[in-house]
Order: sequence, then structure tokens, then C-alpha cells
Amino acid sequence: MTASHNELLKSVEAGKAKVAIIGMGYVGLPLSLAAIGAGFTVYGIDVNAPRVDGLRKGKSPIRTVKDSEVAEANATGRFLPETDFSKMADASLIIICVPTPLTRNREPDLSYIESSAEEIAKTLKPGQLIVLESTTWPGTTQQVVKPILEKTGLKADKDFFLAYSPEREDPGNAVYTTKKIPRVVGAASKEAQSIAAAFYGRIVDKVVLVSSTETAEAVKLTENIFRSVNIALVNELKMIFTRFGIDTHEVIDAASSKPFGFMPFYPGPGVGGHCIPVDPFYLTWKAREVELPTRFIELAGEINLYMPRYAIEVLTEALSRELRKGLHGAKVLLLGLAFKKNIEDVRESPALRVFELLKEKGADVTFYDPFVDELPHHHMPAAIAGEKSIIWDKSKLKSFDAAIILTDHDDIDYGALASEIPVIVDTRNAMARKNLASDKVFPA
Ligand SMILES: NC(=O)c1ccc[n+]([C@@H]2O[C@H](COP(=O)([O-])OP(=O)(O)OC[C@H]3O[C@@H](n4cnc5c(N)ncnc54)[C@H](O)[C@@H]3O)[C@@H](O)[C@H]2O)c1
Repeated sequence: MTASHNELLKSVEAGKAKVAIIGMGYVGLPLSLAAIGAGFTVYGIDVNAPRVDGLRKGKSPIRTVKDSEVAEANATGRFLPETDFSKMADASLIIICVPTPLTRNREPDLSYIESSAEEIAKTLKPGQLIVLESTTWPGTTQQVVKPILEKTGLKADKDFFLAYSPEREDPGNAVYTTKKIPRVVGAASKEAQSIAAAFYGRIVDKVVLVSSTETAEAVKLTENIFRSVNIALVNELKMIFTRFGIDTHEVIDAASSKPFGFMPFYPGPGVGGHCIPVDPFYLTWKAREVELPTRFIELAGEINLYMPRYAIEVLTEALSRELRKGLHGAKVLLLGLAFKKNIEDVRESPALRVFELLKEKGADVTFYDPFVDELPHHHMPAAIAGEKSIIWDKSKLKSFDAAIILTDHDDIDYGALASEIPVIVDTRNAMARKNLASDKVFPA
């Protein structure tokens, strides 16, 4: 162990080290707050100047973190939101939490990680620990981040330390908060691993060490591929069971009584969010390098991508049967556009695809989402960019021919839907859970 390692380890164990966290989004901001809670001083670095400005004024950019939590962090004097990357020179730990999307050709877009690494390299100094948290293909830390940092002449695991720790944040989950979710940490050297473990050990209840950064990267992809494949499976079963007149949710609930060997997953209108529709394809891309196919991943993607069309098929049949109407010109209300309940995140949400497809087919579509006032203009299909949520007014519901429940937010008056709208397509089993199932509710 070197003197710089010992010194850093001691300051981390004492919660005294300064930490720079790059990316103040769903992952980086809760991590920053948890680190501040554990005594660390945190530079919250982001390229988005209005976001940084808002944080300095106690304004949270995401609904799952309250303004008051940001204000409390500010009040400690240890939260320092910044657009100036040179402040990283003052930090002992630097954690990268930037986006890892797919390009238009559905290939990994590592540009955010690369530009973060370039910025770190500008002020890299001996004794710093760099941790990558963004979800990515196995090998990114060693094959992409390390070479950029080593261009400085400093060597990994000799001069500076490098680790990977996948983020498992579940925004909006009140039970499994940052602190309660065990952390996996992988590093190429014992020194790097011990500092990273000491840091995460101060902010979460449990740290799980693995033997390398590649293993830690693979852990995250395995978790997300597992979800994608199982959601696809249950979506496929749903389509079959529904045709047989069997209630899929009743099946899942009863199957869940088996105390071993079964784990419930629930069907829906597809998969959404930053992770499940995107991350599995990071492995698909990397597997091509060794000429191996990823058939499960592709099949799951195919089934999940089909689900918005399935919801529309169910709607078309229901309109024709109940109202003798076609989709064209039908007045349809979409309920919930966020990719999951009680949050505002619409990234990759399958509800957007339903919205777009219905418009394409000539339906008269509007939406209501208590968390989404307006769809953004960027990264949004032109047909629905800028669309605004209706203001909830029970007296106006009667004008709709049909509603499709796409996100089962708690704050929706399901009773009003049941009493006012003649056709309800339910992709989330929301009506049955409220004891509002009837012959005008169509599971999809
Ligand atoms: N959101 C989740 O629930 C979740 C869960 C687990 C893992 N992840 C992974 O964590 C990573 C971050 O995701 P997120 O949801 O926090 O993203 P996000 O879009 O909410 O936040 C990213 C932040 O990074 C900033 N940013 C972009 N480029 C930057 C750069 N070059 N330098 C500094 N800041 C930059 C953006 O302005 C934004 O504030 C991704 O790899 C994602 O797959 C996300």
C-alpha cells in the first residue's frame, strides 16, 4: 500500500474526503445527498447550467428528490453544485453518473462517459479514485475510461485508482432508498477496491465486493436483462391467457404463493425508462465482438416493443364491439405517460409509442398525467412533442369514447373513469385492483 492510498483511505473512512460527482440527474443527485449525509463534501458537477443554478438555490430538478432535501444539503455548506470541472482538482474521489443512451443506430453512446473522462484527465492527480457508475458494457472502465486517464502519463492502480460500482437507484421507491440498496463494487486492484468500499460503506448499509470492474459491469447488465426477459415472458403469457379468458394477474398472484423457484413480474404496455429498453443492447453490441448472438435479449426486445401495438389492437376491437366505431376519429384519453407509476419520467415510455401510433391512425387523442404537464420538444416524436396534459375535470370525461390506462398512478380517479367512459383498456390491471372491473374494462 502506498502513502497516498493510506491517506485517502483514512479520510474516506472518516467521512472527511471531498467528492466530485459528475451528472446531477436521477442517479448523481440522490448519491450526492447520501454522501453529504455521511459527512462528505460534494462538488455536484453538471454541464447543465440552469440545473446547477437551481440546485444552488435549493431547487431539485427531479420530482423524486424534494426541494427541501436540496436546501438541507445546501445548509450544511458541503454541497457545492458546479459547472466548472476544474473544481475536481480539489476532490479525492470522482464519481461519473452521466447518461449512457443508444445512438440512432441502437449502438452504445459512450460520448458522455468519454467527455467526463477527458475532463477528469485535465486535472487528474496522484491519489485520486475515479469510479464509474453509469450502466455500460463489460470492459468500459478498463478499455475506455482508463486509457483516457492514462494519457496524462499517470498510471491506474499505481498513481490513481479506478473502480466501477453500478447504480441500482429505483426513483420513487420509498422502501429501497439509496442507503438500503446494497452496492456492488469492482476494481482491478485491492487498493482501489478498499477505498471504493470504504466510501460506499459509509453511505449504504451493505457493500458487495466483486473481483473486477468487468464483473461489476456485468452484474448491472445481468440485472436489467433479467428484468427485460421476464417482463417479455409475462407479456407473451398475458396475450395468450387473455385470449383464453384467463386473468393473467390472478395467475401471477397464485403462482407467487410458491415459496421457491418463482418470482412475479407484471405485464404492461411495454418497457420504459433509461435502463430496461436500453441497457440489454449494450451487451448485444459487445457480444458481436466475440461473434456471439444475444437471442434472449433480442426476442425480449421484440415482444416488449410490440406491446403498444397490442394495446391498440385491444382498443380497436373494444371500440368496434361496444360502440360500433373505428379508431379513426375516436376520442381517446391516455392515462399516464410516465414509464412507471408516481414519477414524471417519460424517457423511452411505451405510452409515448401508443400516443404516436394512435395519432398516426387518426384517433383524436389527449392525455392526462398528474406528473407530466407537458411533453418536451427534444428527443420526442414530432407528432406528440409539446403535447399538454388535460386538466382533470370529471364533468368532461363523458365526451371520450375510450380511455387507455398506461401508467397506474395512484392519483387518478379510477371511479370517475368507470362511471363516465364507455370503454376502458387497462394495461396495468388498475381497475381490477380498485374493484372496478366490469364488462367495459378490457385487459391489455
Ligand atoms: N435513472 C435510473 O433509475 C438509473 C438507475 C440505475 C442506473 N442508471 C444509470 O445511471 C446513469 C445516469 O442516469 P440518470 O438517470 O442519472 O441520467 P439523467 O439524465 O437523469 O442525469 C444525467 C445528468 O448528467 C448531466 N450530464 C450529461 N453529460 C454530462 C457531462 N459530460 N458532464 C457533466 N454532466 C453531464 C446531465 O445534464 C444530467 O443532469 C446512466 O448510465 C443510467 O443508465 C440510471
